Amino acid sequence: MKFTLSAIIIIMLGLLPGSVRQVAAQDATPTLYKMKCQICHGPDATGSPAGKKMLVKDFTSPDVQKQTDAELLEIAKKGKNKMPAYGGKLTDNQLTELIKYMRDLAKPGARGK
Ligand code: HEC
Repeated sequence: MKFTLSAIIIIMLGLLPGSVRQVAAQDATPTLYKMKCQICHGPDATGSPAGKKMLVKDFTSPDVQKQTDAELLEIAKKGKNKMPAYGGKLTDNQLTELIKYMRDLAKPGARGK
């Protein structure tokens, strides 16, 4: 019994290699954003000076807001123009959390304005 249970757990971990990291990533989203995205998207998701040179889009703009989470996830996974592709580097779950986080950053209240 014991063997069976641990075997199942090992198989499940094997099938879902990101699962453990995904749980951790939920708390780590702001850190992940700072490490991987802020350099171009800026601390408030409106775009850093370097990002703006690469035509990063302001997350407060209707252009970004009107896109669904699924559409934004596609861009984050596959990349677009100067936006690097993160599929394979980050999990869908991490990217979804990051997109939510970026939408939150872009809300007027989030910046105390
Ligand atoms: C090297 C600079 C750079 C980095 C680093 C970067 N991005 Fe981007 N990102 C861009 C640019 C430029 C665009 C605009 C692409 C376009 O539409 O031409 C963009 C667009 C996006 C979009 C789609 C918004 C839209 O409508 O254009 C999402 C979502 C996004 N980035 C998420 C992320 C996430 C999440 C990270 C961190 C894991 C990240 N980006 C890191 C440069 C970057």
